Amino acid sequence: MKITSADFVTSATNLDKCPAGSHPEVALAGRSNVGKSSLFNVLVNRKRLARTSNTPGRTQLINFFIINDKLHLVDLPGYGFAKVPVRVKAQWGKMIEGYLAGREQLRGVILLVDVRHKPTQDDQQMYNWLKAYRIPTAVVATKADKLSRGRAIQNLAVVRKNLQLADADPLVLFSAVTGQGKEDILTIIKNWTMV
Ligand code: GTP
Ligand code: MG
Repeated sequence: MKITSADFVTSATNLDKCPAGSHPEVALAGRSNVGKSSLFNVLVNRKRLARTSNTPGRTQLINFFIINDKLHLVDLPGYGFAKVPVRVKAQWGKMIEGYLAGREQLRGVILLVDVRHKPTQDDQQMYNWLKAYRIPTAVVATKADKLSRGRAIQNLAVVRKNLQLADADPLVLFSAVTGQGKEDILTIIKNWTMV
């Protein structure tokens, strides 16, 4: 799939505020600071369409972008950031869950994990939860540029085992710095959305 246009649509805090219409949708989920917004920017070839930051918790709303006038890509807030106050965490959890469980247009979720580390309990929970809701999921192990190629491949096996990935669920090695894995992710999005 070639992305020729990408524009911000709106931010939402709950399902009611999500844009209406029938555009198929793909969402990016993962821990705070894992690199969701960075992956988004690489996919759409824009440096700063989605805001990124060194500070975890940058993305605090459900952000909708329209791609090629045909599909929505959704940049979700991250989970699992220890320094967020408990009350805010609970709010974000509810917001993300409400969206994932209730959004009819959702065709699949790209779940990002950090290739350098074993998936966290939060990652496991999110993956299991997506499976329970029968949402097609692709796991992307990101920040590959921070490891040697051999080490990154080794760690992919750890991710697959640790999350107990279903055989049908793809696992892609990615780097927002080198763009490695970008085409594979675009193909997955195309297959999910049929656009
Ligand atoms: P929240 O919005 O807080 O949930 O974070 P996020 O998942 O959107 O992460 P974001 O894209 O803002 O990236 C967090 C930090 O990781 C930034 O400093 C990015 O530059 C860095 N980063 C993201 N992806 C990569 C990558 O593939 N390689 C390297 N080296 N750094 C990355
Ligand atoms: Mg973000």
